Amino acid sequence: MEAQAALIPTPDNALVWHEDALHLLDQRLLPERALFLRCQESGEVAQAITDMVVRGAPAIGIAAAYGVVLAARRRYVQWGAGWSHHLGPDLAGLAHARPTAVNLAWALQRMRGCLARCGEGDPLGPLLAEARAIHQEDRLANRRMGELGAALIEGPTRVITHCNAGALATGGYGTALGVIRSAFAAGRLSGVYADETRPWLQGARLTAWELQQDAIPVVLQADGAAAALMAEGGIGWVIVGADRIAANGDVANKIGTYGLAVLARYHRVGFMVVAPTSTLDLGVASGAEIPIEARDPSEVLACGGRRVGPEGVAARNPVFDVTPAELVDALVTERGVILCPDRPKIRALMEG
Ligand code: MRU
Repeated sequence: MEAQAALIPTPDNALVWHEDALHLLDQRLLPERALFLRCQESGEVAQAITDMVVRGAPAIGIAAAYGVVLAARRRYVQWGAGWSHHLGPDLAGLAHARPTAVNLAWALQRMRGCLARCGEGDPLGPLLAEARAIHQEDRLANRRMGELGAALIEGPTRVITHCNAGALATGGYGTALGVIRSAFAAGRLSGVYADETRPWLQGARLTAWELQQDAIPVVLQADGAAAALMAEGGIGWVIVGADRIAANGDVANKIGTYGLAVLARYHRVGFMVVAPTSTLDLGVASGAEIPIEARDPSEVLACGGRRVGPEGVAARNPVFDVTPAELVDALVTERGVILCPDRPKIRALMEG
């Protein structure tokens, strides 16, 4: 019974620690199949992050935290006392699984702090407690951001979202989709448009699936349809998540986000970024310093398993872009909302 309860594949249950292993709802297969991938080694977690079994900035960080638990357990069994001196390659493997989402480095840093307190005894208990705390804190942060972001929306209105910044991409509830969930519950939303989000189709495959489960009316559109929709009127906000936010408020998020921000400003539509403070990186001065992941061009050259570009044609596949802070109307974090974010406001939020 317990196994069934733990491994029910819902958007809010995409990362599950169960029977001494991390189970990841395989996001490559959704929405056709909802299956868990079981990871018993940290290398398997790192590979799952690279391969996008689990994706979305906070979810990547949470998965990496559980990956540290698996690594430490393996090294403790292997080496006994002195196990902690053998963790370096495991931690490096997790750290390099994907480059853009800073939540990965943030979660590993927290786990390193816990490791330092573990001594040379059995690390499983304290490390698992820390990974669970990271997971639970993210869920709570999303609830709080949901309330704060929904309060900015004078409804009922319609919104556009891009990629998937939902329960699947986080510990649960979601960042951008958390705001959408809360706003819908408060009667402030009359509809949600989800960009399909080429090339990986997070909007079509994941956001549409998630919102359907909650009976929130969602309409899919091609990424290129957003401009004409804004021109028609009736769109109150574009609401997105973030993978890394620089000290000056520049936002790295899914490729296409920058274009949406430019369109929103032109059409006088609000542009809201929803992200926990674990996504803020005061170590990078501006968006120009954020590493942007380039994935295999084959993701662009094919769609739905079918090749769409002619043989021999070149393709580029940067999977994130940077939206300048000046295009962001509201940055919603669990610590509060910043309107028109800039360096001093972000510093004050983080120090406050
Ligand atoms: O390549 P992905 O699917 O990991 O990209 C995810 C995004 O860009 C999300 O918008 C971002 O991580 C915020 S998730 C709460």
